[in-house]
Amino acid sequence: MRRAVLLAGLCAATLAGAAEIRPTRDYLSPELRAQQQDPSRHPGWLWVDEGEALWRRGETSCQSCHGDIARMAGVAARYPAVASDGALLNLEGRIERCRTQHQGQPAFGYESDELLALTAAIALRSRGMPMSVAVDGPAAPFLEAGRRLYETRQGQLNLACGQCHDDNAGRRLRGDVISNGLGTGYPAYRLEWNGMGSLHRRLRACSLGVRATQFDLGSPEYLALELFLADRARGLPVEAPGLRR
Ligand code: HEC
Ligand code: HEC
Repeated sequence: MRRAVLLAGLCAATLAGAAEIRPTRDYLSPELRAQQQDPSRHPGWLWVDEGEALWRRGETSCQSCHGDIARMAGVAARYPAVASDGALLNLEGRIERCRTQHQGQPAFGYESDELLALTAAIALRSRGMPMSVAVDGPAAPFLEAGRRLYETRQGQLNLACGQCHDDNAGRRLRGDVISNGLGTGYPAYRLEWNGMGSLHRRLRACSLGVRATQFDLGSPEYLALELFLADRARGLPVEAPGLRR
């Protein structure tokens, strides 16, 4: 029943054409938007604080190589990026590499509080800066893979990402206002999760929403999609850590 209603609502606005892509904060309620900007009312700051502590922890700390975390300014705006060995890394993947290869420690693990904390603390240093990922050279095939995934109809509902996030942005769906589906606010604290979560966790929720295959956290599919979303957001501000209902 609800599916029929959902589809009827969405079909009315398909083929509306490529509308303007707006910063995600424009789609938040005024209350949530204000709270996202205010560390004293943003529960995600518990992770930021933890991330800053982790940055300094241990003998071979992140800080021992990189200096003050303030020097990470602008980094999140450039990720995902292709590493020297040709792998596409998002910020989480880059941190895990430093953890294992430079610190000689076991990986934190995707979606662990430690990795979310470090990712949030580093991303915060780019807050307000314009997204500017590289998509040429070795990144080009990843961008194309991401674009294909974005444009392909998926799942039992047979919907492509853009049928919600382009054609129906600004409309309500199950109590949410549909945004342009950018990754700029992640990791984000989501009240429904009662905690911090990664972009890939959110993507899994969208895949489930259309009854499509949910790829693994950190999978090549979601990494390519993340690069495509970052390119879509080119010039728009990093908003992480976001706050969501
Ligand atoms: C022993 C030195 C060392 C330690 C310790 C280290 N890193 Fe790195 N990090 C590097 C180097 C070198 C690079 C450049 C890429 C490479 O060659 O691996 C890098 C790159 C990065 C980048 C990407 C920067 C950019 O401009 O693209 C991030 C983010 C990062 N490290 C985070 C961390 C975090 C978080 C920790 C702690 C968990 C950490 N690093 C620990 C040496 C280190
Ligand atoms: C049936 C409609 C629908 C489809 C199809 C859909 N999403 Fe979503 N998506 C939503 C809703 C609703 C939300 C929550 C409100 C919002 O932030 O847009 C959301 C949230 C998101 C967010 C988080 C935005 C934020 O800042 O919190 C991203 C990123 C996203 N979607 C990407 C995708 C991608 C990529 C696909 C295709 C694989 C996709 N979505 C497919 C409905 C959809």
